[in-house]
Amino acid sequence: MLATQIPLDFIKCTQCHSKRPLSSHQQGGNSSLQCPDCGSVFPKIDNVVGMISKERDKDTLKKFEHQWAVWGGDKVIFGKTSEEYEDRYLKEFANPIIKKGWFAGKRTLDAGCGHGMMVEVFNRLGAASVGLELGDGVFRAARRLEGKDILLVQGDILDIPFQENSFDYVYSNGVIHHTRDTRLAFKKLASIVKPGGGLDIWLYPKKGILWETTMYTGRLLTTRIPPALLSKLVYLLIPLLYVVPTWSRTSPRTHTLKQCAQVIYDWLSPKYQTHHTFDEVKKWYEEEGFEGIGEVKTTPLSMFGTKKSH
Ligand SMILES: C[S@@+](CC[C@H](N)C(=O)[O-])C[C@H]1O[C@@H](n2cnc3c(N)ncnc32)[C@H](O)[C@@H]1O
Ligand SMILES: [Zn+2]
Repeated sequence: MLATQIPLDFIKCTQCHSKRPLSSHQQGGNSSLQCPDCGSVFPKIDNVVGMISKERDKDTLKKFEHQWAVWGGDKVIFGKTSEEYEDRYLKEFANPIIKKGWFAGKRTLDAGCGHGMMVEVFNRLGAASVGLELGDGVFRAARRLEGKDILLVQGDILDIPFQENSFDYVYSNGVIHHTRDTRLAFKKLASIVKPGGGLDIWLYPKKGILWETTMYTGRLLTTRIPPALLSKLVYLLIPLLYVVPTWSRTSPRTHTLKQCAQVIYDWLSPKYQTHHTFDEVKKWYEEEGFEGIGEVKTTPLSMFGTKKSH
């Protein structure tokens, strides 16, 4: 893999949180970054920088590692190819400050990038495209993105490995509601957006009491099932997708059984899963100094906002 041309000066030491940039080192075939203050060394393997320095949440790792081991190498993930991700993003998700030509010369982050398809999309749109991911799935994403000038960082949103005001645009789809503190994760992502930059977040919307109670009760059981077993059991539930629409619009009418199974596994496996309302998340944006806050009506709860410049 070619070494990325994206400068690494916005990466922050996760040991001492120094504001000074890490220095790059090369010894034999090994690359690393080193903190000028505490001396911590972080490995760089091809285009993946390892910035984990604290214990990660075990359940999140276990459930998503399994998901990416089973589905992460497929061409269609959450019902879409990379081209379909781009198409739907440009038609529906984009923050109004963002137009197709907007990405050239901008630095973007997909936080919780999983399979890496959106890192690929932002790269194709012309951005210096960075992906952040907690688990070793980041190495599968690296294989998918082989040969592209992108940067992947293995790190935790809750211990964000980037300096404040580093990105023109931060995107995070279906991620922070799987952390142990969704509000804190939002704050961390808001902090790394540059003034005038955009923050787009998709979270599970809170629905009626019947839905919320049924899901809460069902997930008390399913989150305790070992991932290898759950990823097989979910095939039994696929007929439900004829009547229950999914956020990704994956359905047995248009998708394979394996693609449907992923969506159900994703919903039923992780321990942490919070649901939110528009007013609640709008307040988060306001508290973090954002304006132009809105929701993509076709996909609740897909929210956008722009960081105030003053
Ligand atoms: C449901 S998947 C979504 C993947 C992708 N964003 C998408 O839309 O398809 C959630 C991803 O977030 C990652 N994740 C969860 N908690 C994280 C954290 N604290 N920091 C970084 N990534 C995290 C998981 O490992 C997983 O790959
Ligand atoms: Zn340090």
